Amino acid sequence: MTNASLQVVLTGHSRGLGGALARCLLAQGAAVLGIARRVQPGLAAAHGPRLVEVPLDLADPTAVQAWLATGALSNWLAGASRAVLVNSAGTVQPMRPIGGLGMGGGGTGRTRVDEPARAVALNLTTPLMLTDAFVAATADCADRRVAHVSSGAARNPYAGWSTYCATKAALDMHARAAQLDAVPRLRVASVAPGVIDTDMQADIRRTVPTDFPMQARFVTMKQDGMLADAADVSARLVAYMLSDAFGSDPTPDLRQLPG
Ligand SMILES: NC(=O)c1ccc[n+]([C@@H]2O[C@H](COP(=O)([O-])OP(=O)(O)OC[C@H]3O[C@@H](n4cnc5c(N)ncnc54)[C@H](OP(=O)(O)O)[C@@H]3O)[C@@H](O)[C@H]2O)c1
Repeated sequence: MTNASLQVVLTGHSRGLGGALARCLLAQGAAVLGIARRVQPGLAAAHGPRLVEVPLDLADPTAVQAWLATGALSNWLAGASRAVLVNSAGTVQPMRPIGGLGMGGGGTGRTRVDEPARAVALNLTTPLMLTDAFVAATADCADRRVAHVSSGAARNPYAGWSTYCATKAALDMHARAAQLDAVPRLRVASVAPGVIDTDMQADIRRTVPTDFPMQARFVTMKQDGMLADAADVSARLVAYMLSDAFGSDPTPDLRQLPG
């Protein structure tokens, strides 16, 4: 399959699901602007100028705003005929009951009182800012799409995950409301990808049941080989994102889609 005319802005491209999405899209010939704090080792060497990596702390809205003000995003998208924004960067931290959300350090052992605010910025504020800038920059684009990476946690509450559930539910509602704006040649959806074997899952298994009561279930899922492979999920997500069906359902679950 080739997607040589496709330009993709992808957050969290350095590892996990976003890392697999970057490899899948580049293998199909797309150009990728990847944004994360780190680069993905070896990716630039393999794909040369079709990959641009932007080191940016997406949990810092001031830094995101400053980067957008440079014009780097609109310049990169200038003249695009097919463009996609994938908001994949995210965090499940802080994983604790309310009343203690600012008391941990995201597994680092440090105290971070700003951790809930940084999680909201990474999971929600930045995707909304990037979506707005992406739509503004693609006014002349024949086919433009925005995919938020959602979660089952957007649709079901879990003890210990109040920040994560709230931010992912808000992403879902953003997609639903954005569809009603009926922006020409724009499709938007917030896609739940299923449970994937990434660093995020390792982070979940490292919690304690008093912070996250379902911890044992995630340990068992890993032991039983129930976690999906990031490369498999990314292949399915790319195929769906680029399909005619994308955008008809604002909040699909990848596991329930045909194929
Ligand atoms: N894994 C699952 O089972 C699962 C299930 C449902 C939904 N999801 C969703 O899928 C998406 C990807 O998750 P994942 O499992 O791939 O997570 P992951 O393995 O922890 O990777 C997270 C990605 O986000 C980037 N990121 C984290 N903090 C950042 C920051 N402050 N600034 C910029 N980039 C940052 C990381 O890059 P750097 O560290 O280089 O910055 C990395 O590329 C998330 O939105 C998650 O909520 C995952």
